[in-house]
Amino acid sequence: MKLNVPLAVLTAASGVTAFWRMECRGRAGLLRIDPLVSPGEVGAHAHAVHGSSGFNEKATYDDLINGNCTSCAVTQDKSAYWAPGVYFRHSNGSYELVDQVGGMLAYYFLNKDANNPNGKITAFPKDFRMIAGDSLRRNYTIAGQGATQKDPEKSLWAALGQTTQTDLSQRAIGYNCLNYDIAPEPSLYRHYLPEKGYLDANCKDGIRIEIMFPSCWNGKDLDSTNHKDHVAYPDLVEDGGCPQGFDVKLPGLFYETIWATNDYKGVDGEFVIANGDVQGFGYHADFIMGWDDEAFLQSAVNTCTNLSGEIQDCPLFNIQSEDEQRSCKINVPSALSQEKVVGLIGDSLPGNVAIQYGPSPATAKNPGPQTATVPVPTVSYSKGVSSSGYPGLVFKETTTPSLIPSSTPSVSSPQATDFAAAAAAPATTPAPTASTEDGKYEVIRTEYVTSGNVVNEIIVKEAVEYVTVTTTTVTVSVPAKRAARREAAHAHRHVARGHGRPRV
Ligand SMILES: *[C@@H]1O[C@H](CO)[C@@H](O)[C@H](O)[C@H]1NC(C)=O
Ligand SMILES: *[C@@H]1O[C@H](CO)[C@@H](O)[C@H](O)[C@H]1NC(C)=O
Ligand SMILES: *[C@@H]1O[C@H](CO)[C@@H](O)[C@H](O)[C@H]1NC(C)=O
Ligand SMILES: *[C@@H]1O[C@H](CO)[C@@H](O)[C@H](O)[C@H]1NC(C)=O
Repeated sequence: MKLNVPLAVLTAASGVTAFWRMECRGRAGLLRIDPLVSPGEVGAHAHAVHGSSGFNEKATYDDLINGNCTSCAVTQDKSAYWAPGVYFRHSNGSYELVDQVGGMLAYYFLNKDANNPNGKITAFPKDFRMIAGDSLRRNYTIAGQGATQKDPEKSLWAALGQTTQTDLSQRAIGYNCLNYDIAPEPSLYRHYLPEKGYLDANCKDGIRIEIMFPSCWNGKDLDSTNHKDHVAYPDLVEDGGCPQGFDVKLPGLFYETIWATNDYKGVDGEFVIANGDVQGFGYHADFIMGWDDEAFLQSAVNTCTNLSGEIQDCPLFNIQSEDEQRSCKINVPSALSQEKVVGLIGDSLPGNVAIQYGPSPATAKNPGPQTATVPVPTVSYSKGVSSSGYPGLVFKETTTPSLIPSSTPSVSSPQATDFAAAAAAPATTPAPTASTEDGKYEVIRTEYVTSGNVVNEIIVKEAVEYVTVTTTTVTVSVPAKRAARREAAHAHRHVARGHGRPRV
């Protein structure tokens, strides 16, 4: 069932970003291996892995390309895409894997370097690899800006001194609270995992975790010691200008995964990312290029520029069915064959990872029991000016530039510095035009892309297709929670906007 068809309608010609959205409906594995961080060994924590079945503890390009299948839609793409899984810690201490909904979407944004607008986008070379985010990070540190405050308008970031690579990497993580009944939140809007009470009250369709990779490259190294130093973010994260020394513009890779946190509504406990992080500042993601081959990927970058973002609109791509994607699995190495990672897994995270609260960085070694020293921030909903389907544009709100809160609230008083309050001043974010032209497309937002002195207006529409699912009463004898879960999964299929994806 494919429900989400973003459609960009241009009223002015230039400055718009082409992209495609790689669908990886299958999860090729959920396991504790990480060829970048722990090559040749068992990894520290469990990752949801998408892409080539050739993924292994020390995967190289050749391993990926020689894999028998890919869990992504395009058969020429045997890349590896991975990010940590999300668990729920019950109040009795038992951990349970949260259901992942629909696999992964890996966007390839073909944004130019704003400092070199006539330059080209260079395909990832064979075996190119990188990491976005920092697994050990446990705080949010951006000058003059707390995690509970809304990001200032992008055009102000440089003037505010918020464009160091460390700043940009923290802004490259997003936790999108899903409620398909209302307009979606913008992408990369909230940079931490909301606490359980907030999720219960607001995110009735779960949480979508987003992460943007750096897209400026030094042009020579396929990798670096920390898997980050060979690349850099452009100064607006998704786009903007590349820093000096990183002038080769790559496709902007952006992952989305959805987790059914809503299954645990009313259940006591907390959500924990597999690296022992409850606030989400340590979310991260990894990539190894496994396209067959580099020249093919370059052709795709050059020619697959239909603004629909649909892989079907790229004639080069050979697309396999969702069932084929879902049937592609990694061979679990024998060292991990007994490790329980799915369902109720016992009283510790895979790898015996301990929860580590901030603000100081987590230690790679398990430090033993910890107590919370940082309250989980509280945020509230804001209507999106960017949205699920098409996050990669520099945009401006139609209101006057936002007011930057003059004081820096301390992390320890999240209630007083409520996100909503911080956002209240510029709260006149335009409501999406609710009306539809023909009942099939809905205008979901208007964006303004600044390119030099030219401001282009982009009206983004989304096809809305309502799917009727006949409700049948299931009478099976299952524990209460399972029943609720089935109902939630069922309800999900009524949703018209969003991924509309089955669980993996
Ligand atoms: C690919 O399939 C062959 C034959 O079924 C099998 O021997 C091999 O192990 C598979 N390779 C991978 C990486 O799964
Ligand atoms: C902990 O609670 C969960 C949810 O109620 C339950 O499924 C699980 O069996 C419990 N674990 C233990 C060890 O009692
Ligand atoms: C983009 O794809 C749509 C179908 O989604 C097609 O109708 C349109 O002609 C394509 N545009 C270009 C420029 O190829
Ligand atoms: C915040 O996190 C960074 C990165 O992990 C770390 O270097 C810094 O010391 C932390 N700040 C505090 C106050 O612990």
